[in-house]
Amino acid sequence: MRKILFFLLVLFIIIASCTSPKSNDRVIKTEVPNRPDGQTDVLQLRSEPIPVVRVAFIGLGMRGYDAVNRMTNIDGVEIVALCDVIEENVKKVNVELEKKGLAKALEFFGDTAVWRKVTALPNVDIVYIATDWVHHAVIGVQAMKDGKHVAIEVPAAMNMNEIWALINTSEQTRKHCMQLENCVYDFFELTTLNMVQQGLLGEIIHGEGAYIHNLQPYWDLYWNDWRMKFNQEHRGDVYPTHGLGPVCQAMNIHRGDKLNYLVSVDTKAIANPAFIKEKRGIEVKDFRNGDHTTTLISTEKGKSILIEHNVTSPRPYSRMYQLTGTKGFANKYPVTGYALESDAIDIEIANHYENINAHRFVTKDVKDALMEKYKHPIAKDIEETAKKVGGHGGMDFIMDYRLVYCLQKGLPLDMDVYDLAEWCCLIPLTEISLNNNSAPVEIPDFTRGGWNKLDGLKFAQ
Ligand SMILES: NC(=O)c1ccc[n+]([C@@H]2O[C@H](COP(=O)([O-])OP(=O)(O)OC[C@H]3O[C@@H](n4cnc5c(N)ncnc54)[C@H](O)[C@@H]3O)[C@@H](O)[C@H]2O)c1
Repeated sequence: MRKILFFLLVLFIIIASCTSPKSNDRVIKTEVPNRPDGQTDVLQLRSEPIPVVRVAFIGLGMRGYDAVNRMTNIDGVEIVALCDVIEENVKKVNVELEKKGLAKALEFFGDTAVWRKVTALPNVDIVYIATDWVHHAVIGVQAMKDGKHVAIEVPAAMNMNEIWALINTSEQTRKHCMQLENCVYDFFELTTLNMVQQGLLGEIIHGEGAYIHNLQPYWDLYWNDWRMKFNQEHRGDVYPTHGLGPVCQAMNIHRGDKLNYLVSVDTKAIANPAFIKEKRGIEVKDFRNGDHTTTLISTEKGKSILIEHNVTSPRPYSRMYQLTGTKGFANKYPVTGYALESDAIDIEIANHYENINAHRFVTKDVKDALMEKYKHPIAKDIEETAKKVGGHGGMDFIMDYRLVYCLQKGLPLDMDVYDLAEWCCLIPLTEISLNNNSAPVEIPDFTRGGWNKLDGLKFAQ
């Protein structure tokens, strides 16, 4: 009898252990395609130096127009082709080039497929893509297949198929595929990154970022209403890269740590359907994108990230950008400042000040002294030009300048295709989480095994 009881007990334990969910079972996983034989990762990818970088632009709306202007302020750049659906957008930019005494670029316009002639051009080094979201990845993939490097506006990819297609194509063709994430080049973010890399904030354990920008005054300006349409059809954080990019860089994501999984929560959609009803007289019953979406991410090394998206509420602009470290704290919005433990701060900066501790932000003069001391090396030489040329206060110029600088010197770019993947994957993965009652969703290792090969983020010099 005791033997039977013992046998039943063992049987019960086996059955129970098989049926009770393992912690991993709760995580929804998406398919990770196998890397084809012979294909390797593009970490630290270098191409042959390109002394004069020939650029073709596709998408010349509000953002693309400004991008061409910035590029004309960089030495060693030739603008060789301009493409947009709308003829007037192309002509307008060529007039600007002529006014600056530059050669006219080849013109392509007329429909949404004319870009194929541009990626096929022989004398182009890089295709710069600033179209609406749904054309980004398809053009990027073809451009790399046609032998060009690509730079793609944010978000560069809108779903997992597009993300994997960009990764696989970059790995197969050995062409750069960089997302044009400008916010990592903001002076505060760059300076803070330098502080982090020099250990001033200790180990970063938590980061926050956001895209909080009331777009109500701008919805009608977008070509073909592309932005509202995407929001109408998709739940989740559809614009995560400005908030997530700078935090991932500070945390060395895929350079010693990796994003593991996320959970997302959203509110109902009120303001956008109301806008459509009021301004366009259309009743939308199933507007998918909630007014406010909040996402939490956990990393392999035990860190957390909070990301928010809100493009409809009456709130001041904010990308949050907040880092919590073991020795200090950095915050961009709404109050820009640093809080530091007294022993973290440099004696030459601190010796005139009393009571420096992390209970409050350092005073403005200490902050200014810190920002001067820790100015990022890549910003030092070009800060003045960047402020003059502009583009969100100069950060857009630094982004373009760095892209061209690295191509000219044959250096790895500051952001690779895995950054693109990690920052864009929130779009499809938050939607999956929300459609499953905020279930955790795995964030794949887009390097497919290489996330721990590099020892931290270093911008090539
Ligand atoms: N990084 C930033 O700070 C920032 C700021 C604004 C916009 N953006 C991004 O820039 C991109 C463009 O935004 P925008 O504000 O200029 O929008 P927009 O609507 O003003 O411009 C999009 C342009 O793309 C053109 N276009 C669309 N499909 C095309 C195709 N298949 N071939 C050629 N041209 C095509 C349209 O004719 C239009 O002129 C978006 O991805 C947006 O998210 C980034």
